[in-house]
Amino acid sequence: MKTQKLAVIGAGHVGSHVLAYAASSELFGEIAVIDPRDKIAYGEALDQDHATGLISRRNINIHSGGYEEVADADIVIVSATHVYAPDPVPADRQELIKNNAAIIREIMDNIVKYTRDAILIFITNPADTVAYIACNEYDYPTQQILSTGCMLDSSRLRHLIGRHYGVDPKSVSGYMMGEHGYTAFPVLSRLTVGGIPFDQLAEYFPEVEPLSPDQITEHVVQTAYEVFDAKVGVTNAGVAESAIEVARAILLDEKAIYPVAVPFVDGEYGFDKPSAFSVPCVLGRNGVERRLTVSLNDWETKKLNISVASIQASIELAES
Ligand code: LAC
Repeated sequence: MKTQKLAVIGAGHVGSHVLAYAASSELFGEIAVIDPRDKIAYGEALDQDHATGLISRRNINIHSGGYEEVADADIVIVSATHVYAPDPVPADRQELIKNNAAIIREIMDNIVKYTRDAILIFITNPADTVAYIACNEYDYPTQQILSTGCMLDSSRLRHLIGRHYGVDPKSVSGYMMGEHGYTAFPVLSRLTVGGIPFDQLAEYFPEVEPLSPDQITEHVVQTAYEVFDAKVGVTNAGVAESAIEVARAILLDEKAIYPVAVPFVDGEYGFDKPSAFSVPCVLGRNGVERRLTVSLNDWETKKLNISVASIQASIELAES
């Protein structure tokens, strides 16, 4: 049986978490770490490989290497980003496009030299614009490109609702849509807690203070900055786990429905300009096997318009 191979591009704060979670996920028989800073890639791979003497897990070949490593990869996770240190990292993810557009183009230039087979999972921010660049500027199967988009925002949403109502966040079914950033919004018209629709929760949990759509949106968006500020410009664990869960859905052909960012080219949702943003997608061995065009209420439609305008501004910046 062919061993499943992961290539991680970018061995920084996020890439090292991706590597650690990937190694313990038991999904891969080989993991290659790629970073222009060869020594860091080598060190991260060796550090993770040392753990094989401590824990019982499937035998994995973990090593660093060049871009040729993507040639036989099943999954490529891209977490590379511009290193700002010692300057502060800009808080608005859209600001990052100024430096990260060139980084993503360099990575894509290299990937397309070696493969059209791997599924590409982008983490690099701004996640939506990055997915757009990879899809629109390169001859690569669109179905095989996505970004983690609102995966993490949605987990933060389920975490908030679960903790607020005193239930397991996994018993909350719901997602954020739009931009992975300031304008992401919860699709509350489709959120359920143990099957109970959001607008009926007061009936079942009369003792719990209801939350308004704006309060929920504000909390989910701002809690990213609670982490970002406390960790001085870094968030890594949640988004790395998001990428691994996407990889799992793909490799195991789960057909799981996850809110990942994908490109829109043909007027879907009524937008006349091409874009990329998160919607619920069916993920399987072929990548993004289906995008669900869910109907939204008026509040959600307004929010999506704002979100898409923000992403389109970032796309224009990337193209200028
Ligand atoms: C976050 C980063 C990944 O939301 O954008 O944590």
